[in-house]
Amino acid sequence: MAADPTRLPIIEMRGIDKSFDQTVIFQGMELTLYEGETLSILGESGSGKSVCLKMMLGLADPDRGSVKVYGKEVGAMDHDALLQLRRDVAYVFQEDALFDSMDILHNVGYALYEHTRMSDEEIRARVAECLAMVGLPERVIDLHPADLSGGMRKRVGLARAIAIKPKVVLFDDPTRGLDPQSITLIGRMLRRLHRELNMTSVLVTHDLRTAFHVSDRLAILEDHRFPYVGTLEELRALKDPEIEGFLYDPEEELWGDVMSESA
Ligand SMILES: Nc1ncnc2c1ncn2[C@@H]1O[C@H](COP(=O)(O)OP(=O)(O)OP(=O)(O)O)[C@@H](O)[C@H]1O
Ligand SMILES: [Mg+2]
Repeated sequence: MAADPTRLPIIEMRGIDKSFDQTVIFQGMELTLYEGETLSILGESGSGKSVCLKMMLGLADPDRGSVKVYGKEVGAMDHDALLQLRRDVAYVFQEDALFDSMDILHNVGYALYEHTRMSDEEIRARVAECLAMVGLPERVIDLHPADLSGGMRKRVGLARAIAIKPKVVLFDDPTRGLDPQSITLIGRMLRRLHRELNMTSVLVTHDLRTAFHVSDRLAILEDHRFPYVGTLEELRALKDPEIEGFLYDPEEELWGDVMSESA
């Protein structure tokens, strides 16, 4: 779909080619993220969703094409510009990337200790606030990752990403492997972050329920690019059998009400 001239583009990917050895991942890929929106990326396992997010942060380089964030070419950024980029744009890794040796306070407050002059008390308060935002009790602050369940660790990862108040958050499959209750909680949390912090975000997910309920637009990754980008209504209106497979959720009606409850 055509670029929208009335909205401010935050991330612009143009003419991206990317291969690993002989394996083509992207070919002529284009994607735009606009200010204030939540864009979900859907696509098969191994299609390149994580690589796409990594290119937005300069953690992977395209072979050809342009990646701009806030109008600046990521490939041309020096060390300081890349550091600033990664403060503005947080990345919630798909893998559990917590530091096992650190307690939750230092895991979530990591960037605050590293990059700000906040006092210990201020950091503790901010960490507690972020934990509350992801539905975790304050008591976990002194525990270690090993003391928490998988779902709780995922939420700690989310709290860590928002601690430094990034402008944009890239969520890489935040609900993978979680039980239905945790998935619902994380879906609600994403909506709340969006509403309360007016956050711009990209959500990579295999979970249609979460995608439908938190996204303003969906982007379907297929054939090494994003041939379909739009709102759920726009994509469904295309009545393209190719995308039916991506957008059909037999449980949608059942789950709609659960997700819509205020958290
Ligand atoms: N650093 C790398 N070196 C070589 N190949 C890589 C590298 N990173 C990713 N790939 C390959 O690129 C392809 C896309 O990987 P990617 O992790 O982006 O998939 P994905 O869409 O995120 O999948 P999933 O849904 O399973 O997370 C895969 O075939 C993967 O093996
Ligand atoms: Mg991935």
